[in-house]
Amino acid sequence: MASLLLVFVAFGFISQIDCSSQYDNYTLIRLHPTSVEHQKSVTQFNDPTGEIEIMKESRGVNDTLDILVPPSRMKFVHEYANTNGLVLEEKQPNYGRTLEDVPDRLPRRRILERFGVFNYNSYDKMQEFIEAKAQKYGALVQLQDLGKSFQGRKMRLVKISTKPSANNPIIFVDAGVHGREWVAPAMALYLIDRLTIDPRGFLRGGELDGVDWYILPLVNPDGYEYTRSSRSNRMWRKTRSKHGASHCYGVDGNRNYGFKWAVSGVSSDPCHKETYAGPQPFSEPETQMVRNVMMDNAKRMKLYVSLHSYGQYLVYPWGYTGEYLPKQWKKLDNMAKAVSDAVERAGGQPFKVLSAGKWYPAAGGSDDFAFGAAGVPYSYTMELTEGHEFAFPENLLGTVLPQFYEGFKEFGARIRAEFGNQRKKREILDTQ
Ligand code: ARG
Ligand code: ZN
Repeated sequence: MASLLLVFVAFGFISQIDCSSQYDNYTLIRLHPTSVEHQKSVTQFNDPTGEIEIMKESRGVNDTLDILVPPSRMKFVHEYANTNGLVLEEKQPNYGRTLEDVPDRLPRRRILERFGVFNYNSYDKMQEFIEAKAQKYGALVQLQDLGKSFQGRKMRLVKISTKPSANNPIIFVDAGVHGREWVAPAMALYLIDRLTIDPRGFLRGGELDGVDWYILPLVNPDGYEYTRSSRSNRMWRKTRSKHGASHCYGVDGNRNYGFKWAVSGVSSDPCHKETYAGPQPFSEPETQMVRNVMMDNAKRMKLYVSLHSYGQYLVYPWGYTGEYLPKQWKKLDNMAKAVSDAVERAGGQPFKVLSAGKWYPAAGGSDDFAFGAAGVPYSYTMELTEGHEFAFPENLLGTVLPQFYEGFKEFGARIRAEFGNQRKKREILDTQ
């Protein structure tokens, strides 16, 4: 046992000195647009060399553009800010080093790892957690095998329903299509935990009455594990697939859906680190599985929420264009605002509510597919948290996840009110 421990310790040590961070000398820069004249320059920012990584887009006035800039591109960015009159803030030099300082992000030795709903858990621990839930609450929780990720990780849908035969409206929540956005799967697991805490309803507030919750807590397990196992790639976003002859890995899962695929906001270069749309729509097994959940349940699915980070936005279709909105946009907007209010009442930050395409147009997202192809009437992308960028501190999860949960309660109440079987029955009685 002692020697085994020694091996673990030695391994941990080696892996710590082994890889120096890829972003060591990058600077986190924040560009502040303060007038409508600035708006265009900040929403159309583009680095011709592709070396600058866009961390968060701006939706216009008073909403920052956050970028990671290598030393070779600093001059370009300063000049860009100057010519366009943008206030430039050098938020964090040597960005990669700040990532290493945070203990949560060091590779964990498996033997010491503990699961917690307020921790950033490994893929394996997440699997154990949902298995344990299904065991403990057999009548309430069903796991459905969806298939395997590119690297062979099992993907399982968590179905929570007090009465699967009742054909209740379905709320489908997924998370973690982007590897680095750790708070998203953490929220999905917390949701599973809260919805199942007391199936008899003493602690729950009726969230399961008349609605079924389908939750896929980690859409991109390969990308997620990649950001955990290697400090140099804490900022990895894409899947880990390989296509054609390219030596580069991965596709942006949220540009890979087959609705208006690749018409805006994508790269066709497999080496693009952020928005490569893939060789064709649904090239990724992970997006195929999400699509199948949507299509197989299209009739009953009334709400779809895709969890991401960061920036505290709650956006709805269309995502592929900012030119126009779906005709039902007001309903989408109202529900989002109600959810934002609920989170705010719980002490959280309000969400910026708008259409995804008005924030920045990007096609091939799961939200557009759910709304436009599967016919899900309410469809959202929820960007959790503001501050700390993708590295939201683990010790704040206990504060924010319960606040977001209040938003999900609001979602549930509204879906129940509009689509619940109870309501239908009552209408029938009323008209008799
Ligand atoms: N940050 C998300 C992404 O870039 C936003 C997606 C919004 N939806 C959309 N269809 N553009 O993937
Ligand atoms: Zn994302």
